[in-house]
Amino acid sequence: MLGELCLEVINKPKKMSTTLVPKKAGSRSASAIASIFAIATLLLSPQFAFGQHEVDSDEGGRGPVKINGNENAFGYSQMAMMSIMQELPDINRYAWEESVALVEAISARELVPSEFVLPTAGSGPVLVMAAIAYAQPGKNVVTVAPGYTQLVRKFKEFGGDVKSVPLNEKLEYDLPAVKAAIDENTVMVYLCNPNNPTGTTVDPEALKAFIRELPPGVTAFVDEAYLELADGGLEANSMIGLVREGRDVILARTFSKVFGMAGLRVGYGIMKPDTKAKLAKYHMGGPNKLGCVAAVASLQDTMFFEESVTNYRTVRKMVTDKLDELGVEYAYPQGSFVFMKTGVPIKEFQTLMEAEQVMVGRPFPPMLDWCRVSIGTEEEMGVFLSVFEEVMKAKGKL
Ligand SMILES: Cc1ncc(COP(=O)(O)O)c(C=O)c1O
Repeated sequence: MLGELCLEVINKPKKMSTTLVPKKAGSRSASAIASIFAIATLLLSPQFAFGQHEVDSDEGGRGPVKINGNENAFGYSQMAMMSIMQELPDINRYAWEESVALVEAISARELVPSEFVLPTAGSGPVLVMAAIAYAQPGKNVVTVAPGYTQLVRKFKEFGGDVKSVPLNEKLEYDLPAVKAAIDENTVMVYLCNPNNPTGTTVDPEALKAFIRELPPGVTAFVDEAYLELADGGLEANSMIGLVREGRDVILARTFSKVFGMAGLRVGYGIMKPDTKAKLAKYHMGGPNKLGCVAAVASLQDTMFFEESVTNYRTVRKMVTDKLDELGVEYAYPQGSFVFMKTGVPIKEFQTLMEAEQVMVGRPFPPMLDWCRVSIGTEEEMGVFLSVFEEVMKAKGKL
């Protein structure tokens, strides 16, 4: 299957681009073909397994289980991989056409005009640009704690204030409390849905009503990095409808999570053109050429998408079933990770797990005896659960 795809890539006439000397169909240089064969050989090697890491090592023991960074352990789209291979000989050229094609593909996915799309190298830059564009001394951003802090940290660095509202007892957003924290100096509300690190989502109708009632001059930033994995997915939960209505909403999405391309760095923001112009002042460069073609291919690869969502939901349930059996408290997970109460200070817990080569998430103040664990493969999570049980028993928590 992969061999056939490689041959197809080599034989496929390359589209004309903005090259001064257009290549004729089938006129790839010998070195380009050699490089494609070299990559194909690598891809066909048994160790490669499409980005999935073997838990067993050759030495008879097992390798490390890395479940600390919310990366996709199931790999990424083979169609994306093929598009990268096809593009490799041409990365001496800028991504003119490819970045336009990416914007068009995103605009078709989101059903918004292309003027609403701001492509970036991962979605992190959308968060950072928004922080820089809105932060001013005396102005504040309202968010939740624990929550994802990339935007609010930058907001503070650029002279603004951060107002953090605690979550409710179900570790979900307390929207009335968030609303109460908004004052005359608030310029933005940043909410990540599902929330990182808790993984909880907010009722979409309640969130829509909350955003519609925001005072003029307060922009809603909704970070939907993990939303494809929530019950009902984007269709049931996304705030994209409010952007389409022309509301003052910035939405961020990424190819790092469900699409499994964290290392490639592709993400985007969706917002009205006047908001986009405000953020774009701080744009430092969009996704690279390989990222552009891989993201477009990923959006076409519906089979991979479905598989990725199913894998996440299946393994997530396997983890929560075991936590239920052990009587461990956790927040209802709707993203690519589970946030659980260990009752052990997180730094100590990390060290104990690391001694068994299981890397778990960092501290998320103020919940310092809870732990965030990214969903890995079934095999990796099996290892995690058995080490977890041992460590928890040794600490007298089970
Ligand atoms: C909630 C949230 N938003 C944004 C990001 C940024 O990811 P990336 O820059 O890879 O798109 C992350 C990364 O973990 C995240 O958890």
